[in-house]
Amino acid sequence: MKRKIGSQNVLYPMPVTIVAMLVNGKVNFLNVAHVGILNARAPHFISLGMGKRHYSNIGIRENKTFSVNILSQDQMVEADYVGLVTGSTTDKSQVFETFFGELKTAPIIQNCPVSMECRLHDTYELETHDVFIGEIVATYVDDAVLVDGKIDLSKVKPLLFDISSMKYWSLGQPAGDCWKEGKQYKKS
Ligand SMILES: Cc1cc2nc3c(=O)[nH]c(=O)nc-3n(C[C@H](O)[C@H](O)[C@H](O)COP(=O)(O)O)c2cc1C
Repeated sequence: MKRKIGSQNVLYPMPVTIVAMLVNGKVNFLNVAHVGILNARAPHFISLGMGKRHYSNIGIRENKTFSVNILSQDQMVEADYVGLVTGSTTDKSQVFETFFGELKTAPIIQNCPVSMECRLHDTYELETHDVFIGEIVATYVDDAVLVDGKIDLSKVKPLLFDISSMKYWSLGQPAGDCWKEGKQYKKS
């Protein structure tokens, strides 16, 4: 039997991202798991659901730039830390080494497998959250996770987030081929 459990968002696991921006001229980071892909072709847009009280939102509004970084499992402690403390009272600027790319005001994490440099495209205001929509202007990938020019997830080892268990999860093995497995379907 399938049980009704009310109106809960169960769209998990989500990839953990570390979003980086400048706030009042200083680098700040926060952990954002509520991210979304809005389209699959360039220009690429992604969304971030960020609580209005976060210090980071000030910087994204101010500079209209930010980066979205995917960390490996071995960076879990740092990833969790920037999601535990606020930049309004704690200087998080030294937690990760950063560099600046095309947009000049979006700090990008140096020592992580994958980063996307974004320009703020739009902001959708919910009662409790700002939904920042960013256009990806450049993507940076560590050579060590590229195989034949493509990102190999088994090398990235991304952190996944589940709100139900309140745990970080890791990827398992590939389950099948997209746009291929369905060809085996037989009407029963
Ligand atoms: C695993 C994890 C996932 C999180 N996901 C989000 C999220 O999707 N949206 C959000 O607004 N806050 C999220 N947070 C909370 C913020 O990262 C956290 O409140 C952070 O300290 C805010 O930093 P700031 O005040 O410097 O901006 C998450 C925290 C953790 C640990």
